[in-house]
Amino acid sequence: MKFLILNGPNINFLGIREPGIYGKSTYNDLIRTITDYAVTRGVDVTFYQSNCEGALVDAIQKAYYDKVDGIVFNPAAYTHTSVAILDAVKAVSIPTVEVHLSDVNSRDEFRKVSYIRQASIAMFAGHGFASYTMAIDCLIDHINGSK
Ligand code: DQA
Repeated sequence: MKFLILNGPNINFLGIREPGIYGKSTYNDLIRTITDYAVTRGVDVTFYQSNCEGALVDAIQKAYYDKVDGIVFNPAAYTHTSVAILDAVKAVSIPTVEVHLSDVNSRDEFRKVSYIRQASIAMFAGHGFASYTMAIDCLIDHINGSK
């Protein structure tokens, strides 16, 4: 199985941005944690991060041509604003799990809104890096279950 780990704006600033909310670990630490976990689960992972909405849409469309089996997606602030990203996920019909490091439902009101949720098979939030590994497990179960 081939999964794309997709991250939106400011996730590259992990370790620098608001450490009280997002922790002190960096984006490279996140990549390392997920890569190690993927080895234990026997899945291939590729990573992409962008601060630009259109680049994230392009990455989702590329996943279609690359025959990616699943997407673990933290759209970051675009979660709460982007119809374009929702439409892209709907367009490719690749099982997608929405993830967040923080618990978006216990923060600002506007963070409770998620456009991508209606196109996601599940959502994990508030578990830090474990939100991503939980999403990998969820995708594996989903794909195995639908065979
Ligand atoms: C986030 C939560 C979003 O509300 C925020 O805009 C982010 C990160 C998270 O991982 O907790 O940039 O997606």
